[in-house]
Amino acid sequence: MLLTDKTAIVTGANRGIGEAIARIFLANGARVIACVRDAEAARSWLATLDPSHAQRVQLAQLDLGDEASIKAAIKTIAGLAPRIDVLVNNAGTASGAIMQLTSMAELRRLFEINFFGQILFTQGLARLMARNKAGSIINLSSTAALIADPGTLGYGASKAAFARATQSMATELGASGIRVNAIAPGPTRTDMFEQMAPAAREQLIASSALKRAAEPQDIANVALFLASDLSSFVTGQTLRVDGGIV
Ligand SMILES: NC(=O)c1ccc[n+]([C@@H]2O[C@H](COP(=O)([O-])OP(=O)(O)OC[C@H]3O[C@@H](n4cnc5c(N)ncnc54)[C@H](OP(=O)(O)O)[C@@H]3O)[C@@H](O)[C@H]2O)c1
Repeated sequence: MLLTDKTAIVTGANRGIGEAIARIFLANGARVIACVRDAEAARSWLATLDPSHAQRVQLAQLDLGDEASIKAAIKTIAGLAPRIDVLVNNAGTASGAIMQLTSMAELRRLFEINFFGQILFTQGLARLMARNKAGSIINLSSTAALIADPGTLGYGASKAAFARATQSMATELGASGIRVNAIAPGPTRTDMFEQMAPAAREQLIASSALKRAAEPQDIANVALFLASDLSSFVTGQTLRVDGGIV
Protein backbone atom coordinates (compact mmCIF):
# COMPACT_ATOMS: atom_id res chain seq x y z
CA MET A 1 0.00 0.00 0.00
CA LEU A 2 2.53 2.56 -1.19
CA LEU A 3 0.03 5.35 -1.92
CA THR A 4 -2.35 5.27 1.02
CA ASP A 5 -4.12 8.63 1.45
CA LYS A 6 -2.45 10.05 -1.68
CA THR A 7 -4.39 11.68 -4.50
CA ALA A 8 -3.16 10.96 -8.01
CA ILE A 9 -4.22 12.52 -11.29
CA VAL A 10 -3.87 10.10 -14.22
CA THR A 11 -4.56 11.29 -17.77
CA GLY A 12 -5.80 8.80 -20.35
CA ALA A 13 -6.81 6.45 -17.53
CA ASN A 14 -9.52 4.66 -19.51
CA ARG A 15 -7.27 2.33 -21.51
CA GLY A 16 -3.73 1.11 -22.21
CA ILE A 17 -0.85 2.17 -20.00
CA GLY A 18 -2.95 4.82 -18.21
CA GLU A 19 -5.50 2.22 -17.17
CA ALA A 20 -2.76 -0.07 -15.77
CA ILE A 21 -1.33 2.89 -13.84
CA ALA A 22 -4.74 3.88 -12.42
CA ARG A 23 -5.39 0.27 -11.39
CA ILE A 24 -2.05 -0.22 -9.61
CA PHE A 25 -2.38 3.15 -7.86
CA LEU A 26 -5.86 2.16 -6.63
CA ALA A 27 -4.56 -1.22 -5.47
CA ASN A 28 -1.95 0.70 -3.47
CA GLY A 29 -4.52 2.82 -1.68
CA ALA A 30 -4.57 6.02 -3.77
CA ARG A 31 -7.55 8.17 -4.65
CA VAL A 32 -7.46 8.66 -8.43
CA ILE A 33 -8.82 11.50 -10.51
CA ALA A 34 -9.08 9.86 -13.92
CA CYS A 35 -8.83 12.41 -16.71
CA VAL A 36 -10.60 11.20 -19.82
CA ARG A 37 -11.75 12.72 -23.07
CA ASP A 38 -15.23 11.24 -22.82
CA ALA A 39 -16.44 11.14 -19.21
CA GLU A 40 -19.76 9.49 -20.18
CA ALA A 41 -18.01 6.62 -21.98
CA ALA A 42 -15.60 6.26 -19.03
CA ARG A 43 -18.50 5.29 -16.77
CA SER A 44 -18.42 1.82 -18.36
CA TRP A 45 -14.68 1.67 -17.56
CA LEU A 46 -15.46 2.58 -13.94
CA ALA A 47 -17.87 -0.35 -13.80
CA THR A 48 -15.00 -2.76 -14.59
CA LEU A 49 -13.12 -1.77 -11.42
CA ASP A 50 -13.37 -3.51 -8.08
CA PRO A 51 -16.20 -1.57 -6.29
CA SER A 52 -13.90 -0.78 -3.34
CA HIS A 53 -11.49 0.82 -5.84
CA ALA A 54 -14.16 2.52 -7.97
CA GLN A 55 -15.37 4.48 -4.95
CA ARG A 56 -11.94 6.14 -4.81
CA VAL A 57 -12.15 7.29 -8.46
CA GLN A 58 -13.46 10.61 -9.74
CA LEU A 59 -13.68 11.52 -13.41
CA ALA A 60 -12.57 14.77 -15.03
CA GLN A 61 -13.04 15.64 -18.70
CA LEU A 62 -9.79 16.55 -20.48
CA ASP A 63 -8.90 17.05 -24.12
CA LEU A 64 -5.21 17.90 -24.36
CA GLY A 65 -5.73 19.31 -27.84
CA ASP A 66 -8.09 22.00 -26.54
CA GLU A 67 -6.83 24.82 -24.30
CA ALA A 68 -10.28 25.60 -22.95
CA SER A 69 -10.74 21.96 -21.91
CA ILE A 70 -7.33 21.92 -20.20
CA LYS A 71 -8.11 25.08 -18.21
CA ALA A 72 -11.55 23.73 -17.27
CA ALA A 73 -10.00 20.41 -16.15
CA ILE A 74 -7.53 22.23 -13.89
CA LYS A 75 -10.46 24.10 -12.27
CA THR A 76 -12.45 20.88 -11.88
CA ILE A 77 -9.50 19.09 -10.28
CA ALA A 78 -8.82 22.02 -7.92
CA GLY A 79 -12.45 21.72 -6.79
CA LEU A 80 -12.31 17.94 -6.37
CA ALA A 81 -9.00 17.59 -4.52
CA PRO A 82 -7.79 19.72 -1.63
CA ARG A 83 -4.34 18.21 -2.16
CA ILE A 84 -2.64 16.61 -5.18
CA ASP A 85 0.28 14.26 -4.54
CA VAL A 86 0.91 12.67 -7.94
CA LEU A 87 0.34 13.72 -11.55
CA VAL A 88 0.82 11.20 -14.34
CA ASN A 89 0.85 12.84 -17.77
CA ASN A 90 0.13 9.60 -19.62
CA ALA A 91 -2.36 10.50 -22.35
CA GLY A 92 -0.77 10.91 -25.75
CA THR A 93 -1.23 10.37 -29.43
CA ALA A 94 0.93 8.78 -32.14
CA SER A 95 1.21 8.73 -35.89
CA GLY A 96 3.96 7.81 -38.28
CA ALA A 97 5.21 9.29 -41.54
CA ILE A 98 8.61 9.75 -43.10
CA MET A 99 10.01 13.29 -42.98
CA GLN A 100 9.13 14.23 -46.59
CA LEU A 101 5.53 13.12 -46.10
CA THR A 102 5.01 14.71 -42.67
CA SER A 103 2.39 17.43 -43.06
CA MET A 104 2.71 20.56 -40.96
CA ALA A 105 -0.87 20.05 -39.79
CA GLU A 106 -0.03 16.60 -38.39
CA LEU A 107 3.24 17.81 -36.87
CA ARG A 108 1.32 20.60 -35.10
CA ARG A 109 -1.37 18.15 -33.91
CA LEU A 110 1.26 15.84 -32.40
CA PHE A 111 2.99 18.72 -30.61
CA GLU A 112 -0.32 20.25 -29.51
CA ILE A 113 -1.32 17.05 -27.68
CA ASN A 114 2.04 15.50 -26.73
CA PHE A 115 3.80 18.70 -25.76
CA PHE A 116 1.93 22.04 -25.52
CA GLY A 117 -1.17 20.57 -23.87
CA GLN A 118 0.95 18.64 -21.37
CA ILE A 119 2.88 21.77 -20.38
CA LEU A 120 -0.26 23.89 -19.91
CA PHE A 121 -1.92 21.16 -17.83
CA THR A 122 1.20 20.67 -15.70
CA GLN A 123 1.63 24.43 -15.15
CA GLY A 124 -1.84 24.58 -13.60
CA LEU A 125 -1.53 21.47 -11.45
CA ALA A 126 2.06 22.08 -10.33
CA ARG A 127 0.84 25.38 -8.84
CA LEU A 128 -1.62 23.42 -6.71
CA MET A 129 1.01 20.79 -5.78
CA ALA A 130 3.53 23.46 -4.78
CA ARG A 131 1.19 24.60 -1.98
CA ASN A 132 1.98 21.34 -0.16
CA LYS A 133 5.71 21.49 -0.83
CA ALA A 134 5.60 17.88 -2.07
CA GLY A 135 4.62 15.82 -5.05
CA SER A 136 5.66 13.59 -7.92
CA ILE A 137 5.03 14.29 -11.61
CA ILE A 138 5.52 11.46 -14.10
CA ASN A 139 5.60 12.20 -17.83
CA LEU A 140 5.23 9.50 -20.49
CA SER A 141 7.93 9.89 -23.09
CA SER A 142 9.02 7.03 -25.38
CA THR A 143 12.08 5.23 -26.70
CA ALA A 144 11.03 6.90 -29.97
CA ALA A 145 12.45 10.08 -28.41
CA LEU A 146 15.86 8.39 -28.43
CA ILE A 147 15.84 6.00 -31.40
CA ALA A 148 15.33 7.61 -34.80
CA ASP A 149 13.55 4.83 -36.69
CA PRO A 150 12.22 5.98 -40.08
CA GLY A 151 8.72 7.41 -39.77
CA THR A 152 9.06 8.70 -36.21
CA LEU A 153 10.01 12.35 -36.84
CA GLY A 154 6.82 13.94 -35.48
CA TYR A 155 6.00 11.53 -32.66
CA GLY A 156 9.64 11.04 -31.61
CA ALA A 157 10.39 14.77 -31.59
CA SER A 158 7.25 15.53 -29.54
CA LYS A 159 8.29 12.89 -26.99
CA ALA A 160 11.91 14.13 -26.97
CA ALA A 161 10.64 17.64 -26.27
CA PHE A 162 8.56 16.30 -23.40
CA ALA A 163 11.55 14.44 -21.91
CA ARG A 164 13.62 17.61 -22.14
CA ALA A 165 10.82 19.62 -20.52
CA THR A 166 10.84 17.04 -17.71
CA GLN A 167 14.38 18.10 -16.84
CA SER A 168 13.46 21.81 -16.74
CA MET A 169 10.39 21.08 -14.64
CA ALA A 170 12.52 19.04 -12.22
CA THR A 171 15.09 21.81 -11.92
CA GLU A 172 12.50 24.50 -11.27
CA LEU A 173 10.01 22.57 -9.12
CA GLY A 174 12.61 20.93 -6.88
CA ALA A 175 12.56 23.95 -4.56
CA SER A 176 8.83 23.29 -4.06
CA GLY A 177 9.51 19.68 -3.10
CA ILE A 178 8.12 18.34 -6.39
CA ARG A 179 10.00 15.59 -8.20
CA VAL A 180 9.54 15.28 -11.98
CA ASN A 181 10.57 12.20 -13.96
CA ALA A 182 9.75 10.63 -17.30
CA ILE A 183 9.23 7.04 -18.34
CA ALA A 184 10.32 6.03 -21.84
CA PRO A 185 8.56 2.77 -22.68
CA GLY A 186 9.55 0.60 -25.59
CA PRO A 187 6.79 -1.10 -27.63
CA THR A 188 3.98 -1.86 -25.16
CA ARG A 189 0.90 -3.99 -25.86
CA THR A 190 -1.91 -1.42 -26.10
CA ASP A 191 -4.07 0.01 -28.89
CA MET A 192 -1.14 2.28 -29.79
CA PHE A 193 1.07 -0.80 -30.27
CA GLU A 194 -1.41 -2.09 -32.86
CA GLN A 195 -1.01 1.18 -34.84
CA MET A 196 2.75 0.71 -35.24
CA ALA A 197 4.12 -0.79 -38.47
CA PRO A 198 4.52 -4.50 -37.54
CA ALA A 199 7.99 -4.82 -39.13
CA ALA A 200 9.39 -1.79 -37.26
CA ARG A 201 7.80 -2.97 -34.02
CA GLU A 202 9.17 -6.51 -34.34
CA GLN A 203 12.64 -5.20 -35.19
CA LEU A 204 12.69 -3.11 -32.01
CA ILE A 205 11.53 -6.06 -29.91
CA ALA A 206 14.13 -8.36 -31.52
CA SER A 207 16.85 -5.85 -30.68
CA SER A 208 15.90 -5.82 -26.98
CA ALA A 209 17.65 -7.95 -24.37
CA LEU A 210 14.38 -9.48 -23.13
CA LYS A 211 12.96 -10.17 -26.64
CA ARG A 212 9.37 -9.31 -25.85
CA ALA A 213 7.05 -6.32 -25.93
CA ALA A 214 6.19 -4.67 -22.62
CA GLU A 215 2.84 -5.30 -20.99
CA PRO A 216 1.12 -2.15 -19.64
CA GLN A 217 1.75 -3.60 -16.15
CA ASP A 218 5.54 -3.42 -16.74
CA ILE A 219 5.23 0.33 -17.22
CA ALA A 220 2.71 0.80 -14.39
CA ASN A 221 5.10 -0.87 -11.91
CA VAL A 222 7.71 1.79 -12.66
CA ALA A 223 5.10 4.56 -12.40
CA LEU A 224 4.23 3.23 -8.93
CA PHE A 225 7.89 3.41 -7.91
CA LEU A 226 8.19 7.00 -9.20
CA ALA A 227 4.92 8.04 -7.55
CA SER A 228 5.85 6.60 -4.17
CA ASP A 229 8.38 7.64 -1.56
CA LEU A 230 10.57 4.72 -2.68
CA SER A 231 11.93 7.14 -5.29
CA SER A 232 12.26 10.07 -2.86
CA PHE A 233 15.68 11.14 -4.22
CA VAL A 234 15.02 10.52 -7.92
CA THR A 235 14.17 13.54 -10.07
CA GLY A 236 14.91 14.90 -13.53
CA GLN A 237 15.38 11.39 -14.94
CA THR A 238 14.00 9.53 -17.93
CA LEU A 239 13.73 5.86 -17.06
CA ARG A 240 13.78 3.58 -20.08
CA VAL A 241 11.42 0.67 -19.59
CA ASP A 242 12.10 -1.16 -22.83
CA GLY A 243 13.40 -4.62 -21.99
CA GLY A 244 16.95 -3.49 -22.69
CA ILE A 245 17.16 -1.86 -26.12
CA VAL A 246 20.78 -0.86 -25.64
N1 LIG B 1 2.13 1.62 -26.40
C1 LIG B 1 3.40 1.89 -26.69
O1 LIG B 1 4.07 1.11 -27.37
C2 LIG B 1 4.06 3.15 -26.15
C3 LIG B 1 5.45 3.24 -26.24
C4 LIG B 1 6.08 4.40 -25.76
C5 LIG B 1 5.34 5.42 -25.19
N2 LIG B 1 3.98 5.30 -25.13
C6 LIG B 1 3.26 6.44 -24.51
O2 LIG B 1 2.52 5.98 -23.40
C7 LIG B 1 1.32 6.75 -23.24
C8 LIG B 1 0.13 5.81 -23.20
O3 LIG B 1 0.11 5.07 -24.42
P1 LIG B 1 -0.89 3.86 -24.70
O4 LIG B 1 -0.11 2.88 -25.47
O5 LIG B 1 -1.59 3.47 -23.48
O6 LIG B 1 -1.89 4.60 -25.72
P2 LIG B 1 -3.38 4.26 -26.14
O7 LIG B 1 -3.73 2.87 -25.81
O8 LIG B 1 -3.50 4.75 -27.55
O9 LIG B 1 -4.23 5.24 -25.17
C9 LIG B 1 -4.04 6.60 -25.30
C10 LIG B 1 -4.77 7.31 -24.18
O10 LIG B 1 -4.53 8.73 -24.34
C11 LIG B 1 -5.79 9.37 -24.47
N3 LIG B 1 -5.70 10.53 -25.36
C12 LIG B 1 -5.31 10.55 -26.65
N4 LIG B 1 -5.42 11.79 -27.15
C13 LIG B 1 -5.89 12.57 -26.15
C14 LIG B 1 -6.23 13.94 -26.04
N5 LIG B 1 -6.16 14.78 -27.09
N6 LIG B 1 -6.67 14.41 -24.84
C15 LIG B 1 -6.79 13.58 -23.78
N7 LIG B 1 -6.52 12.27 -23.83
C16 LIG B 1 -6.07 11.77 -25.00
C17 LIG B 1 -6.74 8.32 -25.02
O11 LIG B 1 -8.08 8.70 -24.77
P3 LIG B 1 -9.30 8.11 -25.70
O12 LIG B 1 -9.62 6.75 -25.17
O13 LIG B 1 -10.38 9.12 -25.51
O14 LIG B 1 -8.79 8.08 -27.11
C18 LIG B 1 -6.27 7.10 -24.24
O15 LIG B 1 -6.81 7.12 -22.94
C19 LIG B 1 1.28 7.71 -24.43
O16 LIG B 1 1.79 8.97 -24.03
C20 LIG B 1 2.23 7.07 -25.43
O17 LIG B 1 2.77 8.00 -26.34
C21 LIG B 1 3.32 4.19 -25.58
